[in-house]
Amino acid sequence: MKIHKAVFPVAGLGTRFLPATKASPKEMLPLVDKPLIQYVVEEAIEGGIKEIVMITGRGKNAIEDHFDISFELEHTLRGKNQNGLLEEVQRISNLVDFCYIRQKEPLGLGHAILRAKDVIGNEPFAVLLGDDIIYSDIPAIKQLIDVYEEYHSSIIAVEEVEKRDISNYGVIEPKEVANGVYRISNLVEKPLPDKAPSNLAIIGRYILTPEIFNILENTKAGRGGEIQLTDGLKGMLSHQVIYGYKFKGKRYDAGNKLGFLKATVEFALRRPDLGEEFREYLKGLKLTE
Ligand code: UTP
Repeated sequence: MKIHKAVFPVAGLGTRFLPATKASPKEMLPLVDKPLIQYVVEEAIEGGIKEIVMITGRGKNAIEDHFDISFELEHTLRGKNQNGLLEEVQRISNLVDFCYIRQKEPLGLGHAILRAKDVIGNEPFAVLLGDDIIYSDIPAIKQLIDVYEEYHSSIIAVEEVEKRDISNYGVIEPKEVANGVYRISNLVEKPLPDKAPSNLAIIGRYILTPEIFNILENTKAGRGGEIQLTDGLKGMLSHQVIYGYKFKGKRYDAGNKLGFLKATVEFALRRPDLGEEFREYLKGLKLTE
């Protein structure tokens, strides 16, 4: 079955980015001049996704507005003959079909995904987390969809991470079955570096089979009263095979400050209209005391 739908859980509180995220969603932080969430939406569309289900929460209205028509803005830009900008804002509101579902309380990523059960129905679907921005030739989610089409099982994006960072991630116990494809025998959430079953960490791109919904419904709340997706996936391992896929591309964890800064610098350096001047600026940079 083809993957047409994607779930974007964006209801998290973004505490790692306070105070910026006190009144505005972290997904709207701009990388150069585009909000984080737009990069991920564009990745999904380039990967063939036709419908996006956003799981939103309190204070996230700006996301909905961003992908909607802005009549006043379009009217003003038209009046000022700013046609390039007009085309850009119109393009954003025509990108794809969106559907918004509210997660009334941030009770975990697993709980957020469960909100999409009725809209997704009985088909496999993609999940993309807005914190992870991936720069790649082939959209990362498209790479996962291609692997799904070969294996017809849930596929989780994984990345090699340094030992000292491994405790920040869910980690897979892998058995490589093809180049970059791993059959998962266990998942460990945030292991101590010496207890990690591998250096392959789970990052924010997934293809999930619809059985995940029943499993999440029966998954008990864990840490902090939250229903964790990793616990759901662990539950699924006893019924179904799950694969990890080491995608090709560079990932930035834009949900934390350092990752966001790295992404900002690198995306700016890649921009044809800014890169050269910005590089010169960085080379000559001397901070005054
Ligand atoms: P994170 O824990 O990384 O994001 O959740 P967060 O809660 O927004 O940020 P911090 O940790 O407080 O800084 C991973 C993803 O799951 C979503 C988040 O929006 C993020 O995309 N999420 C998390 C939900 O949609 N609902 C939740 O209840 C929890």
